[in-house]
Amino acid sequence: MVDNSLKLWTEAKELFPGGVNSPVRATLKPYPFYVNRAKDAFIFSVDGAGFIDYVLGYGPLILGHKDDRVMEKIVEQLMNGWLYGTPSPIEVELARKILKHMYPGGKIRFVNSGTEATLTALRLARGYKNRKYIVKFDGCYHGSNDYLLVSSGSAVEHYSVPASKGILEDVAKYTLVAKFNDPYSVSRIMREYGDKVAAIIAEPIMGNLGVIPADYGFLRFLREVADEYGSLLIFDEVITGFRLGLNGASGFYGVKPDIVTLGKIIGGGFPVGAVLGRSDIMDNLTPSGKVFNAGTFNAHPVTMTAGYATLEILESGEYILASKAAETITSVLDDLLSDKGVIYTINRAGSMFQVFFNVDEVKNADDARRSDSILFEHFQRGLLKRGVFIAPSRLEAIFTSTKHTGAVLEESIEALKDVVSELEG
Ligand SMILES: Cc1ncc(COP(=O)(O)O)c(C=O)c1O
Repeated sequence: MVDNSLKLWTEAKELFPGGVNSPVRATLKPYPFYVNRAKDAFIFSVDGAGFIDYVLGYGPLILGHKDDRVMEKIVEQLMNGWLYGTPSPIEVELARKILKHMYPGGKIRFVNSGTEATLTALRLARGYKNRKYIVKFDGCYHGSNDYLLVSSGSAVEHYSVPASKGILEDVAKYTLVAKFNDPYSVSRIMREYGDKVAAIIAEPIMGNLGVIPADYGFLRFLREVADEYGSLLIFDEVITGFRLGLNGASGFYGVKPDIVTLGKIIGGGFPVGAVLGRSDIMDNLTPSGKVFNAGTFNAHPVTMTAGYATLEILESGEYILASKAAETITSVLDDLLSDKGVIYTINRAGSMFQVFFNVDEVKNADDARRSDSILFEHFQRGLLKRGVFIAPSRLEAIFTSTKHTGAVLEESIEALKDVVSELEG
């Protein structure tokens, strides 16, 4: 029988660096399965296999695949054209909706990816504050953005080093790296650099080293320390925005940042990013201010339409179904793993979660990195063999959608039982 995925993979390796267009897609071993169809909680490979999808495009698809209601609106928009180069009504409507929930009284700029959103947010913070330094947290990912793609250097120096070839040391050195959930590490940096720090940027719930929620009090501390030194506080809610309820993680924790970055869900599955926040800060963006931002595809009508339709559905309370699904799965997994006697930690925030093996607490990047990658690989491969697709790394998040209900959950639970029974603790 022809393996269509293998055939495509063989061609792809000649066409794309590493065979893919985003590195995580190459982590499925021995090669990725190619998908050409998806509906609700399922994706289907070109070889005809169906999988229950817990990757969901790495976060955007909180309503699952190809929700009929969203599709109807997209088709309606397509019939009226798809790019105008001039503003369209739907961008006004989506902006109102997002600001109502995430930043009443604020302003928003739509861009095309989470990467662009964080890039723009930092340029804005630096332009507004006229300061050079940024503080970020080890393990928080903010896209493929030179300012933030850095690793901590020596603990004594605070200085960071480029996490990629091609990023200038002169750029990386202005990004200082603190430890998540560790107020002391932030204080140390701020005592030395605070009056030069334009902004502290954090994922309020880390979603790029598994799932690591901020401790209660940690985000409040960040707010206080930013105020003390006159720095801005940026929450990168590209993953958590509209996943952790309508008000995002900032609403959940009751801490108001100065700037928020969004992406993923607000585009309903189409490329999107957004920067929003205090009007006096946002007005520094061009054309009202002097911090440059522009984009051919900014506020693309199809994206705006898909995003608006998605948020409207979430507003009806439907997103609770996604959180319930994650609650069900994690509580079953909790029972199975504790019966099995393996050491593990499950971290969950609403409809995102991760299981870490052979660690009994995961509160920061070091804890997550220490967890057992081999056991996780067995877990992930076992699930895939049984038709359940989770991201092939413990350093990603597992997502649920509003379509993960009933038989989908039952089937997933059966797969979990089988896989856990085969795990060697
Ligand atoms: C928290 C966070 N910020 C920013 C980004 C970058 O978004 P994009 O991949 O749309 O550029 C991501 C991507 O996963 C993310 O998780």
